[in-house]
Amino acid sequence: MEEKLLKGKPVTEAVYERVAQNLAHLKKLGVQPKLTVILVGEDPASQVYVRRKGKACEKLGILSDTIILPAAISEQELLDKIELLNNDPLNHGILVQLPLPKHIDEDKVILAVSPQKDVDCFHPQNVGLLVSGKPYMLPCTPAGIVEILKFYQIETQGKDVVVVGRSNIVGKPMVNLLLQKRKSANATVTVVHSRTQDISTHIQRADIVIAAIGQPNFIKKEDLKKGSVVIDVGINRVDADNEKGYKLAGDVDFEDVFETVSRITPVPGGVGPMTIAMLMQNTITAAAAQNKIKLPLD
Ligand code: GUN
Repeated sequence: MEEKLLKGKPVTEAVYERVAQNLAHLKKLGVQPKLTVILVGEDPASQVYVRRKGKACEKLGILSDTIILPAAISEQELLDKIELLNNDPLNHGILVQLPLPKHIDEDKVILAVSPQKDVDCFHPQNVGLLVSGKPYMLPCTPAGIVEILKFYQIETQGKDVVVVGRSNIVGKPMVNLLLQKRKSANATVTVVHSRTQDISTHIQRADIVIAAIGQPNFIKKEDLKKGSVVIDVGINRVDADNEKGYKLAGDVDFEDVFETVSRITPVPGGVGPMTIAMLMQNTITAAAAQNKIKLPLD
């Protein structure tokens, strides 16, 4: 049972170790990295994520600030706030937690963040660098998935990888990371999505399936090839008869597929913690780049 599980925790520990060494180097040179997270409104899941990001900074010794703004804030006020942070040389990373309230144009907000401080890798300039194979910053969740695959020595080179979902946060950047010309990528990638005819036929061919659709228990054992590796990015709240009134479920029906797969990430405790670990790494990358410092570890 145990060896089938691709747990995130040991992988985050390895990443945090690397981040800590790079951070010590920056501090020695007088740079104190700082991340600012902006949360607009009161979405309960976003509140949890934002709190975790602040805590991770605190634990590592990265300065952090969390700006909580009312849901009714105007788009212009938010853009002005971002501009102030863009111009603050003591702040190196800016993350605006998504989703935003409907009256705020997400694209405008993403464009407003300085590409140098864009620790999410959402700005079109950073997306373009990733697509062209010269990334400045790596998108957090996809980069965390690559770290999991590397840590557990799961080869992607030449393998058939099917990415389920085409979001800008996970699906699309995941495809681009897996296409990079390097040993920890070099995959043959297929993307399937809500308009794909017969999703199952594609997934059944996959050596590795990366599920990022946001629908609980969507993928069943009939969809998978025996012995495939499953990376489940879904964190869905489903009703449960417990104190909280909900529990977390992945996009893959864990119980159903467990016998069929060779390895699988649990939900929670798989991909989830990786996103924050990679965010910490990006904050350090951003602080180093803004101070023209080369980091000892990459
Ligand atoms: N909402 C869900 N995931 C993310 C993320 O990785 N970054 C931001 N900014 N918002 C999110």
